[in-house]
Amino acid sequence: MMFSPSESEAKFFNRFAAVVVTGGSSGIGNEFLKALSTLCPAAVVCNLSRTQPDNFPASARHLHVKCDLTQEAELMAAVDAVREKISSAPAGPVLLVNNSGFGGYGTFPAPGLARNMAMLAVNVLAPVHLTGLLWEELSGRGGWVVNVSSIGGFQPTPFMGVYGAAKTFVLHWSLALNAEGRKTGVRALAVCPGVTRSAFFKNAGYGEEQVPGSTQTPERVVAESLRALARGKSMVVTGWVNKLSVFFSARLPKPVSAFFAYHAIDRLRMKGVAGRAEDDLS
Ligand SMILES: NC(=O)c1ccc[n+]([C@@H]2O[C@H](COP(=O)([O-])OP(=O)(O)OC[C@H]3O[C@@H](n4cnc5c(N)ncnc54)[C@H](OP(=O)(O)O)[C@@H]3O)[C@@H](O)[C@H]2O)c1
Repeated sequence: MMFSPSESEAKFFNRFAAVVVTGGSSGIGNEFLKALSTLCPAAVVCNLSRTQPDNFPASARHLHVKCDLTQEAELMAAVDAVREKISSAPAGPVLLVNNSGFGGYGTFPAPGLARNMAMLAVNVLAPVHLTGLLWEELSGRGGWVVNVSSIGGFQPTPFMGVYGAAKTFVLHWSLALNAEGRKTGVRALAVCPGVTRSAFFKNAGYGEEQVPGSTQTPERVVAESLRALARGKSMVVTGWVNKLSVFFSARLPKPVSAFFAYHAIDRLRMKGVAGRAEDDLS
């Protein structure tokens, strides 16, 4: 685990009674799952994803719930299982990490209308739905919600338009949720990674050789996120290159930002991938 907490950070994580992560089977979510299982030794830890994480065997503390977040009935059933698990935990706050997500590359409506709708279900609807269904636990016990957005949430993202707009939703909703935390007692952190080494780009339709720009590891993203969480931040852009990029992209007029992003992202269309952009991957 890359995050080595200070004494006060260790104390912050130590008091959680329950941790719920979505998408712990891969990439950033798996790092959250590993790190929080260690940092919160007294907590029950639940993971919701379609695949069981390799390094997360079932135990009295660990619960994997197989769940496709595009399916409302599966999400509701998963929440029932999670609530039951949380009810077995001693008093103490709950940490929910809304991490599951995927993108799709292409000129709209590519990579397919069904895939775009599923993208909205997982990236946008599921975090709101899960947070709402677990609200009693979050507000009753004291709660923190980590919402994984993206640096793409600060600007229009041609060729990944639905994904980028979904992450803008996550970013703004998370910041608003945190502001309301003064009244509700539920705090939120928006995590905004840039390009991170995971299955994300392959799943989004990019070629292996095409992962753009400077990259971070999931360990690094999670380490910076956990530090920000323990320090009570409402938003973290991980990595200094990403911070610099957001500093400019967030200040540009949106149409100008869309123009630059169009050319930057269009350059990533390499042989074979331009065709894929027109496919329906749904
Ligand atoms: N990698 C990047 O460059 C990057 C940059 C900025 C933001 N992000 C965001 O970071 C988060 C994690 O992505 P990652 O980079 O770790 O990608 P990843 O390795 O592809 O992991 C994505 C996770 O989302 C879960 N997921 C996808 N569809 C799901 C569904 N229908 N139901 C339930 N879970 C589902 C997957 O679990 P199953 O397949 O087992 O269901 C998987 O655990 C996402 O929200 C992504 O948008 C990533």
